[in-house]
Amino acid sequence: MTNVRQELVDATAAAPAQLPSENAPVKPRIDSAATRFHLEARPSPIHRFGVFAGQVIPANARVIEYTGERIGYREAERRRERPFLYLFWVAPGRLVDGAIGGSGAEFINHSCAANVVVDIAEGRVFFVSLREIAIGEELLLDYRVRADDIDAPLMPCRCGAASCRGFLNAP
Ligand SMILES: C[S@@+](CC[C@H](N)C(=O)[O-])C[C@H]1O[C@@H](n2cnc3c(N)ncnc32)[C@H](O)[C@@H]1O
Ligand SMILES: [Zn+2]
Repeated sequence: MTNVRQELVDATAAAPAQLPSENAPVKPRIDSAATRFHLEARPSPIHRFGVFAGQVIPANARVIEYTGERIGYREAERRRERPFLYLFWVAPGRLVDGAIGGSGAEFINHSCAANVVVDIAEGRVFFVSLREIAIGEELLLDYRVRADDIDAPLMPCRCGAASCRGFLNAP
């Protein structure tokens, strides 16, 4: 099993990037280069903003690519202090921070009854539909926040699904 602490110690410390101010107004948008579907980022009943289907999306389709700055654990530890997490675990010691250069996929909220799953191909992160998604439905991913990646604390879930586990973390 990967020794996460060791990787934290070994990670090359890049010069700390200037992070966007947490008080800056948020204008969620979808980068049309990252998707072939019409998607909308707008307020969500689950949390702040979410991403919604602007058209019917068939099952098993690559819905959108999750893009952002590629960072290691050490930098992820620093960025974890922000109120909302846009850090996506790709591989041991490798994360993508959607807060910087994100396609809009970083606004996809968590649900314990998800309609998209992650597909990591050659280091790139894609969200793939689990079933047909209707117009106006919110795109929802089961984050399965890992307890061993960046020592994530338990994060209470407000997805509202009958099968809600109560937390965004992996069971
Ligand atoms: C990648 S952001 C998702 C976009 C977020 N709604 C926004 O407007 O910035 C992840 C953050 O959204 C919140 N979030 C997403 N899904 C949630 C859920 N089911 N219950 C509670 N908070 C959630 C948590 O604060 C989490 O750290
Ligand atoms: Zn839930």
